[in-house]
Amino acid sequence: MNALINDIEIIKAKTTKINDVDFDNLKFGHVFSDHMLECNFKDGKWQAPKVVPYGPISLDPSAKIFHYGQSVFEGMKAYKDTDENIWLFRPLDNFKRINISSKRLSIPELPEDYFMDGLKALLEVDKDWIPKKVGSSLYIRPFVFASGNGFHASPADEYKFIIATAPSGAYFAGEVRVLIEEKYSRSANGGVGFAKAGGNYAGQFYPTQLAIEKGYQQVIWTDDNTHEYIEEAGAMNIFVRINDTLITGPTSDRILDGITRKSIIELAKAEGINVEVRKITVSEVVEAAKKGTLKEMFGAGTAAVISPIAGFGYKNEDFELPKLDDTYASYLKKRITDIQTNKAEDPFGWRY
Ligand code: COI
Repeated sequence: MNALINDIEIIKAKTTKINDVDFDNLKFGHVFSDHMLECNFKDGKWQAPKVVPYGPISLDPSAKIFHYGQSVFEGMKAYKDTDENIWLFRPLDNFKRINISSKRLSIPELPEDYFMDGLKALLEVDKDWIPKKVGSSLYIRPFVFASGNGFHASPADEYKFIIATAPSGAYFAGEVRVLIEEKYSRSANGGVGFAKAGGNYAGQFYPTQLAIEKGYQQVIWTDDNTHEYIEEAGAMNIFVRINDTLITGPTSDRILDGITRKSIIELAKAEGINVEVRKITVSEVVEAAKKGTLKEMFGAGTAAVISPIAGFGYKNEDFELPKLDDTYASYLKKRITDIQTNKAEDPFGWRY
């Protein structure tokens, strides 16, 4: 059977922007590669994907994305090793998750080869955009949104699936301090918290802005019902280390099933670290901080990789995390990035 990849039409950009990019000083998601994958859903089916020059898209003002926020996305990264081989990390998990998100938002699911072969065709065309510098990668943003028209509050009849890419450095520029949220909620049972829906992120901007004004970079979301349990940080899942045990909350309707999160759980267990996946109360974290048994907190996500948390605020009190020489965060970050970039054996079969 012919693979789709050989049939994907490629329309090359007339000029390249690559010479304008300072690959030694990349910010996160700030400059975009020359091409993107574009695929339209119309007449009840996904049409053939194409690689086209990266650029603006034209939409009718009544397109449902603008009114009803029907959109989902993914975050992935491509890495290049010293032999110029290109690597992805668990991409089929991203493919599965975009369809889980789409289903919840009444967006038509994508065929696997449209996602995977489309991505491979795009990366082949823009392979020179994949940074080689340690700590940099090509951030990949697949997304699907309602491009169909009409003010009726119902699912659109047309959609666009696009994959855009951006050579990127670290997501956080400096130290990360977080505020444990007491009032606002990111998600609720029965809602869309588990999906990578655009609106989940928009809903966080205002409370996060309030936290930024107080000197924090991120909000740690707590459960909407009691605000007693730590859930996730919106741009990343959260891990805490109390004594030598690494703890993270279980996934649920409200928490994103992070691919980095589940990889860290597996990796840490394989490395002999005691890992607990269970509900974490805010009070146990505060008590552990007071007793000195809270050794580490870190966020985990594709963009964030593993981002150590320097301190947290809760009920107008600030708590500092100890500055340890050997942390689980730095050990696990090295292990996972070595696997991702083909510097170490991959006993899990994650590298692709
Ligand atoms: C990612 O980690 O790739 C995400 O999609 C999170 C986003 C807020 C940058």
